[in-house]
Amino acid sequence: MLKVLQHPLITHKLTQMRKKETGTKDFRQNLDEIAGLMAYEISRDFPLQPVEIETPVAKTTTYELAKEIVLVPILRAGLGMVNGICDLIPTVKIAHVGLYRDEETLEPHTYFEKYPKEVKDAIVMIVDPMLATGGSAIAAIDMVKKQGAKNIRLVCLVGAPEGVRAVEEAHPEVDIYLAALDEKLNEKGYIVPGLGDAGDRIFGTK
Ligand code: PRP
Ligand code: URA
Repeated sequence: MLKVLQHPLITHKLTQMRKKETGTKDFRQNLDEIAGLMAYEISRDFPLQPVEIETPVAKTTTYELAKEIVLVPILRAGLGMVNGICDLIPTVKIAHVGLYRDEETLEPHTYFEKYPKEVKDAIVMIVDPMLATGGSAIAAIDMVKKQGAKNIRLVCLVGAPEGVRAVEEAHPEVDIYLAALDEKLNEKGYIVPGLGDAGDRIFGTK
């Protein structure tokens, strides 16, 4: 299932990120804020479990999150979404998946992976600002599945139709969340209109 999270604040902040004159500081800040807003929307269906507590006034039964949440940023650019989500869900455990896309072939290459033990039974949110050909996202999903993860969501800012189709074909049960579905990929595999190279803009490595 593809869900494009439409909210005026998300659209406004994404517009600031798309502008080519936006510098590293504002790019990062807007990415953080959008990631938090997206997490708020995505967490609407997180399951709750009853818990007995005592307030200063009385005993009562109320609810708390029933499952661990594991965040999986795809390095590097996915790191830019971690703080915004941690601010909202401070108990998340964080995995790391290091992937880079070969500039010629556009194929993903893995250079790092590390997971918390909770990944098997947790709600897993793989985060990366860009879903272009879908190669990196598909590789990351393959990797977390090998760790036993079953409940996986893919959270990206901007997606291309080509990438969405590729992920849906490879992993039909994974829900895909975007802030915007753009027009297409260009001949170099960049999303059009997109926002350029997310990793370079976050880390100032242009
Ligand atoms: C970018 C982006 C995604 C990937 C998307 O990362 O952050 O991970 O490309 O492209 P795809 O859908 O065609 O795989 P990149 O490989 O440039 O690495 P970086 O985050 O280190 O800059
Ligand atoms: N990776 C990026 O950072 N931007 C794109 O447009 C495509 C892949």
